Amino acid sequence: MLKEREQWKSRLGFILAATGSAVGLGNVWRFPFVAGEQGGAAFLVIYLIAVAFIGYPLMVTEISIGRKTQRNPIGAFKALAPNTPWWIVGGVSVLAGFIILSYYSVIAGWSLAFIIESIAGFPEGIEATDQLFGGHKTGIAKPIFYHALFMVIVIGVISAGVVKGIQRVVQWLMPILVVLLLMVVVRSVTLPGASEGIAFLFRPDFSAVSWDTILSAVGQSFFTLSLGMGAIITYGSYLSAKENIPSSSVQVIGADTLIAIISGLAIFPAVFALGFAPDEGAGLVFVTLPAVFAEMPFGGGVGFLFFVLLSIAALTSAISLLEVVVSYFVDEKDWPRKKAAASIGIAAFFVGLLPVLGYSALDHIKFLGMDILDTYDFFADSIMLPLGGALTAAFAGHVWSTKSLMEEANKESKSFRIGSWVGPFLKYIIPIGIIIVMIAGIIEVL
Ligand code: PFF
Ligand code: NA
Repeated sequence: MLKEREQWKSRLGFILAATGSAVGLGNVWRFPFVAGEQGGAAFLVIYLIAVAFIGYPLMVTEISIGRKTQRNPIGAFKALAPNTPWWIVGGVSVLAGFIILSYYSVIAGWSLAFIIESIAGFPEGIEATDQLFGGHKTGIAKPIFYHALFMVIVIGVISAGVVKGIQRVVQWLMPILVVLLLMVVVRSVTLPGASEGIAFLFRPDFSAVSWDTILSAVGQSFFTLSLGMGAIITYGSYLSAKENIPSSSVQVIGADTLIAIISGLAIFPAVFALGFAPDEGAGLVFVTLPAVFAEMPFGGGVGFLFFVLLSIAALTSAISLLEVVVSYFVDEKDWPRKKAAASIGIAAFFVGLLPVLGYSALDHIKFLGMDILDTYDFFADSIMLPLGGALTAAFAGHVWSTKSLMEEANKESKSFRIGSWVGPFLKYIIPIGIIIVMIAGIIEVL
């Protein structure tokens, strides 16, 4: 007998949950610094094109696969292509979800720790904040404690269920996140000298555009939208048949893009106004910004708000990562939800201990020069996500068929429909484009 499957209680519930999954470290930290490095507005234009022609079709495809099959990613591929090896694509998704969760929680733990540091007050000067972050990262007890704390919260939300857990949490946290972000923006753009930072983000510097810019824009477009690893398939599986998939997709993508741009407006004006460098990578958020907060008026409060909002963004993404794996064990192995959430979350915690210790006890372990956290990130983001996205697109175009996809996606939409142009995109342009990006990305690391 089929178990009654939970459904989002409203269309807004789904939109907020999917937006919560999408809006994460990718928006608040990654987008601003990549955009800055890759020519500001020039990058933005290419990124928007990638979002429209790769992100949008893939988002519609993943939601449709989920809703059609009402299954976790592995079960979904099994249902649409029985007795074929296509379920492996879902398997890669579930595995990627597990691995990303294990180190996403480590970074989120740093963010939780910095909420506390912001209350104590950040030290002045980049050397001091560099030492603060370095000291935290290379510790053992503290980073493990915050990693555990974050994972416990994620497990708690997922244990409570789709509606009582995920939907309730995102309905509270997403509006709070937007308000906090806007408060930080207001402080940032009103600092004397802020306009330079705004120009940095919006001035189209086409001379900075290279092959690498295109690769970064494509990579960013589906990492930021949580595509290529089944999170959106899973959330789509809880979507009611009444909802309009193409317009929901546009709303989620629009919100994610807007929050990425607003994050840039929160960060760069302050960084420039206080004379810091914008190209610190991972250090932008954990080293440069604390130094900025230490020196600006009301910086203590702004720093506190910033790390609260970063932690919220990470939480609403992490719950979607755990839900992918949990839905598999609930659907296919009949595990009770609570047991699945706790055991998988704890397992991810242990797998995440390696990247934590990669900065201390295990700091001699390097893969291609990368520490353990960067190695996890490389395998998940540069190999598994792109592979998952390319194969999902190819599957939808060639195996499930564009016709079935369009039927499911357009079921409830008379006016806002996805057109037949998605056919060639799913069959050829997206898979080939992603594979090129992936290979180029791998070559770059080697
Ligand atoms: N979209 C998230 C971000 O921008 O930080 C990252 C992410 C979350 C990727 C969930 C994949 C995923 F399934
Ligand atoms: Na994102």
